[in-house]
Amino acid sequence: MNFFAYRDGTLRAEEVPLPQIAAAHGTPCYIYSRAALEDAFAAYQRALAGRDALVCYAVKANSNLAILNLFARLGAGFDVLSGGELARVIAAGGDPAKVIFSGVGKSEADLRQAIEAGVHCLNVESPAELDRVNAVAGMLGKRAPISLRVNPDVDPKTHPYISTGLRSNKFGVAYDEALPLYRRARDLPNLDITGIACHIGSQLLDPAPAAEAAAKVALLADALAAEGISLKHMDLGGGKGIRYRDEDAPDAAAYLAPLLAALDGRREKLVFEPGRSLVGNAGVLLTRIEYLKHGEEKNFAIVDAAMNDLLRPALYDAWHDIRPVRQRAVDEDIYEVVGPVCESGDFLGHARSLAVEAGDLLAIMSAGAYGMVMSSNYNTRPRAAEVVVDGNQVRLVRERERIEQLFAGERVLP
Ligand code: LLP
Repeated sequence: MNFFAYRDGTLRAEEVPLPQIAAAHGTPCYIYSRAALEDAFAAYQRALAGRDALVCYAVKANSNLAILNLFARLGAGFDVLSGGELARVIAAGGDPAKVIFSGVGKSEADLRQAIEAGVHCLNVESPAELDRVNAVAGMLGKRAPISLRVNPDVDPKTHPYISTGLRSNKFGVAYDEALPLYRRARDLPNLDITGIACHIGSQLLDPAPAAEAAAKVALLADALAAEGISLKHMDLGGGKGIRYRDEDAPDAAAYLAPLLAALDGRREKLVFEPGRSLVGNAGVLLTRIEYLKHGEEKNFAIVDAAMNDLLRPALYDAWHDIRPVRQRAVDEDIYEVVGPVCESGDFLGHARSLAVEAGDLLAIMSAGAYGMVMSSNYNTRPRAAEVVVDGNQVRLVRERERIEQLFAGERVLP
């Protein structure tokens, strides 16, 4: 299904022409399609039908309360990385008992908050963290449910900045160290060993490495069972890639099939932590061309969104499709699509062929994941508004920031 399509030469989100959103809410503006979000979640549910499984949406991909609330209503659990993300989940009506708490650097405050809220599991990533979890649980007079996040050392074949399952990464416990560390965990008084976890990377287009990781994790689970440590769940992380340009991205069923095959016949509940694949293609960033500038070597389309709004191109050289909102009968030109920020790295797209004029709107596609959440206030730029389109309705789900908010917490010296 295509939730962002042209009708009569104008790009729409579901039933709503994008110029209508620009007129009502201004630019830059993140636009999400409710139907696209629901469709992406339903694809996971269908693929997992008949299995004891829980889809824990990775909040880091897009943490707007409206989106969290929508997934909570569909029955999702959540994967969080900070006390802040946990607070968002609870504020959005998510069930803490379905929350997985991940991350290499959980603070004592994070752990206290997570244990008090009664999360489903803390995914522990080091021996030192194991001790800290045990100590914090002891202080609270509770037992903390834990998994070890194991590093299966498989190459996910993705961008080096987003691959996490290799021996050289900072993430997880080395495969060979997992067994002794589980034994240690068993001897700590305030821990309940409930599962095992892995996550090998993001934007994976080939499910084979993830299936290989799942098989390795299953071997460990068997070794643990042989020692009397039986696990209730196996958390296979997130990572399914999406199409940004022309990638052959598998759908949820195709991606999960080899993983499920590797885990066939197992009793443990399966947990997945998809982020990008639930929200990435459900969102676009709407921006307006401020100026067209015809330089000596290159043409520039200078737009009102910048790297502070969407960092992925600047940070990873990521490619996002850029579409004119109105199809025009003017000649195409090749443009560098750049923002107003004072950095040469502030670009949204290189060498794009566009038939546009100054004042036109552009849609930066596939911006629903790791877009708004990675935005900043660099150059004292207020963060964009966010809206959700539902059929012919547009709902503002986050107001555009106001300049005064940006320095409201600052003080001058006496
Ligand atoms: N679980 C864990 C433990 C993770 O670290 C991540 C993502 C996920 C789940 C969700 O992965 P996904 O399904 O979204 O691939 N900012 C980068 C992506 C960073 C991913 C970090 N971890 C980007 O814009 O491409």
